[in-house]
This record gives sequence, structure tokens and C-alpha cells, in this order.
Amino acid sequence: MIHRPVLLEEAVGLLLGNGGKLYVDCTVGLGGHAKRILEANPEAFVVGMDRDPKALEIAEENLRDYKDRLSLYHANFADLDEVLRMEGVSQVDGFLFDLGVSMLQLKGPRGFSFQRDEPLDMRMDPTQRLTAYEVVNSYTEKELVRIIRDYGEEPYARRVAKAIVLARSKKPIETTGELIEVIGLALPYRGGRIHPATRVFQAIRIEVNQELDSLQVALDKTLEFMRSGGRLVVISFHSLEDRIVKNFIRKNLKVLTKKPITPNMEEVRANPASRSAKLRAGGKP
Ligand SMILES: C[S@@+](CC[C@H](N)C(=O)[O-])C[C@H]1O[C@@H](n2cnc3c(N)ncnc32)[C@H](O)[C@@H]1O
Repeated sequence: MIHRPVLLEEAVGLLLGNGGKLYVDCTVGLGGHAKRILEANPEAFVVGMDRDPKALEIAEENLRDYKDRLSLYHANFADLDEVLRMEGVSQVDGFLFDLGVSMLQLKGPRGFSFQRDEPLDMRMDPTQRLTAYEVVNSYTEKELVRIIRDYGEEPYARRVAKAIVLARSKKPIETTGELIEVIGLALPYRGGRIHPATRVFQAIRIEVNQELDSLQVALDKTLEFMRSGGRLVVISFHSLEDRIVKNFIRKNLKVLTKKPITPNMEEVRANPASRSAKLRAGGKP
């Protein structure tokens, strides 16, 4: 399984720049960033977590050479305080968040991508109850407008929500393909650089996984554990996340990246999924 870690050297360089030993990878995914941390600093210990148990299985395999300096947990990073207490940790040298979805999740069959027709699921953690099917088929029109507008920043949120409600009154919308068809009929524009369903899919994914709330809760919790001089490095993939991260760092930490770091042309060419990445870092005074 290949997931090319985004902004790998930049993220790990900033994180390890304080010469610490205990780092927390809050989104261990398939282990790309964690592996680089463990390679680059032979003294480092990594506590890793992810809400996707499948990703963790692969990470465990990818990181087997480092198992003495690694603890992995199936957890939502919003519960990072519980994880760290379980691990017996009170002082952390650095936290890394590489947000968004991994290749494992995108390649299916959980309905994260609109490239294929799959069941409407979109759960990063398959043990949670709420699915995209439930959002699409049982949220009220008003709730749909709110999430599509606020989480998708879709200017035609009302039209899309209305179309969804009309379509599902005839029969439940069961797959990504059916949803794309409904969205396509509701939106007045076609073509362009991004797929017309991109914003609506983003909105539903954020709702299903409660992505913005979890991020805010987790960032707030890092402060309790970060030692003085400790670092926070966050890679985000859309403006809503980036805004939360920027405000958090400005308010609580010393800003280490005046402007966000973005992938260079070479990285974007090799890994198009990296194109919207923004990295911000802060240090605890
Ligand atoms: C972009 S991938 C990380 C890739 C990883 N850095 C690597 O190099 O392989 C993002 C990961 O974050 C996880 N994730 C997203 N939100 C999470 C949350 N609230 N708690 C825990 N993990 C989360 C996803 O399941 C996914 O595996």
C-alpha cells in the first residue's frame, strides 16, 4: 500500500528541530511520517494514533523495524489526553497532525472518492455509527443546507439540498454514483478544474467524521502536554481546517511558519493529492 507522505522533510524537520525525544503522531495513517521521525532521530519514541483500524494494521507492518520505540493506538485524536495518560506520558516534545484521508481510504470501497460507484459510507472509523448514507437520507433539508454551505462552502447549497430531498423521496440515495447524479442535476455549472461534486463530498465527509470539532478539541488538548519548547506541526488540506490551525497557533504558540509551507512543483507533479496541502507550525514559549 503506497501513501506518499506529504511535505515529509519539511514536517519532520520542523518537528524534530527542538532536539526532543517524545513525539506524538496524531494521524499515523500508514506510518510514512512516523517512520521518518524514527529514522531521523534514533533516540525518538513515537506514540501514534489513528481512528482507522485498517490503517493501523498497515502502519504496524511498515514500522516493524521500530517497534521498540513505538506505541500505536486506535483512537480519535480528540481523545489524545486519554491515550497519553494510558501511555503514562505527561510531557511531549512535539505533536504532528497530517489531516485528511489516506490513500487507503481513498482507494475504496468506503465511498470517499467520486471516481467510482461505491456505497455511501465515508467513515474513517468503521466502528462508528453515523455514515454518509444516514446524513444524505435522514438529515432535514435545513441541516443539509447548513453542512453543504458551512463545510463545503458550496454557493448552491440550497439547490443541492433540495435536489437530495426530492430524489430520496422517490428512493433512498445509496451510492456515490447516485449522489453525484443528483448533485450534477442540481448545479448550474459543469466542467472546470474541480469535479462539481467536490464541495458536497467534502461537506458530507466532514460531517460524518466530525472533522472540525475533533481538530479543535485535539489542538486545545495538546497544550496540556506540550513541554516548553515543544512543537506543533499541522498539515491541512482545506481552508476550514487551515483557519482553525492558524488561529490556534497565533493564539497559543510562537508562530514558526509566518506563511504556510506548501508543496513545491516537483512534489505536486509526483503526488497530485498534495496540491492543496498547507503546513503550519508553532512552538510553546
Ligand atoms: C493523510 S492520512 C495520514 C498519513 C500519514 N501521515 C502517513 O504518512 O502515512 C490522515 C490519517 O488521519 C486519520 N484521521 C483523520 N481524522 C482523525 C481523527 N480525528 N483521529 C484520529 N485519526 C484521524 C485518518 O484515518 C488517516 O489515516
